[in-house]
Amino acid sequence: MTGGAGAVRHFLDLGDAGADDIAAMIADAIDRKAARVDKPKGVADADAPLAGRVLALVFEKNSTRTRVSFDIAMRQLGGSVLILDSGSSQLGRGETIADTARVLSRMVDAIMLRTDDHTKIEEMAAHASVPVINGLTDRSHPCQIVADLLTVIEHGKALPGLEVAWFGDGNNVLHSILEAAGLFKFNVRVSTPAGYEPDPAFVELARAGGSVVTLTQDAHAAARGADVLVTDTWISMGQADAAEKKAAMVPYQVNTALMALAKPDAVFLHCLPAHVGDEVSEDVFEGPQSIVFDEAENRIHAQKSVLLWSFGLLGI
Ligand code: CP
Ligand code: NVA
Repeated sequence: MTGGAGAVRHFLDLGDAGADDIAAMIADAIDRKAARVDKPKGVADADAPLAGRVLALVFEKNSTRTRVSFDIAMRQLGGSVLILDSGSSQLGRGETIADTARVLSRMVDAIMLRTDDHTKIEEMAAHASVPVINGLTDRSHPCQIVADLLTVIEHGKALPGLEVAWFGDGNNVLHSILEAAGLFKFNVRVSTPAGYEPDPAFVELARAGGSVVTLTQDAHAAARGADVLVTDTWISMGQADAAEKKAAMVPYQVNTALMALAKPDAVFLHCLPAHVGDEVSEDVFEGPQSIVFDEAENRIHAQKSVLLWSFGLLGI
């Protein structure tokens, strides 16, 4: 938790909100999504709860979904955004995160940051007097996982006891899945090559919350009887495109042979962008169990809830 009662609500990781408030986010996302099915995407929700509020989107890495979903989310909530890329702002010329946080806090109502080192977003939050939202760091991607939980629930699956199987690199997305597992009591079978396991701190966090986490190098064992199969790029942003790493990942491709081991109603998730033919085969990616485009759309609905929570309009 980065803030106490009355403190600015930063959303650096799922634990900053906790299970009850994330459940409230998901419920609100479902309601708001249902209430606007016939509206053009840029039209505000009837209550426009963030009218007059401005969100700064700060990017030190590329983005499509995070950028567009936060922009559309703010429009639908009645607010607006401005976008700062490191290449075209003073951040890219070495202005400190601390000074950027203090200046932006005087000019906008909230800040979303996508960056590399997680300590940078902690520094942003430490110096900002407005909410700071993690739009992905090397360590975690909590906004993605709010959307993923929403997507799984929409597809009729209850979270407690769910068997989630991860394939490939033990990365930032997996870390946030593990944090969610501890909060919502679902189990995670993590299959990675040796040397690419997740940070043990996230495994411990999940287990401390009551999740059963299995670490294995056997992708088939992870897939057997799973409810949800998840993967991500083998090479995350900022990592070297190492041939050695890619070679180690090959047995972890989610393909029809792997899907066949899961429950018949299992679903496939991928945060995107996908590298079809690497971490997922084309037939799975395009197949009936793939819900990746629902997942992508849900970034909008999830981000609206995260924003409302950050502004103290949702949750406890
Ligand atoms: N899934 C995700 O965060 O996508 P972008 O990198 O396009 O924002
Ligand atoms: N693990 C990926 C996620 C992209 C949304 C990365 O960090 O590049």
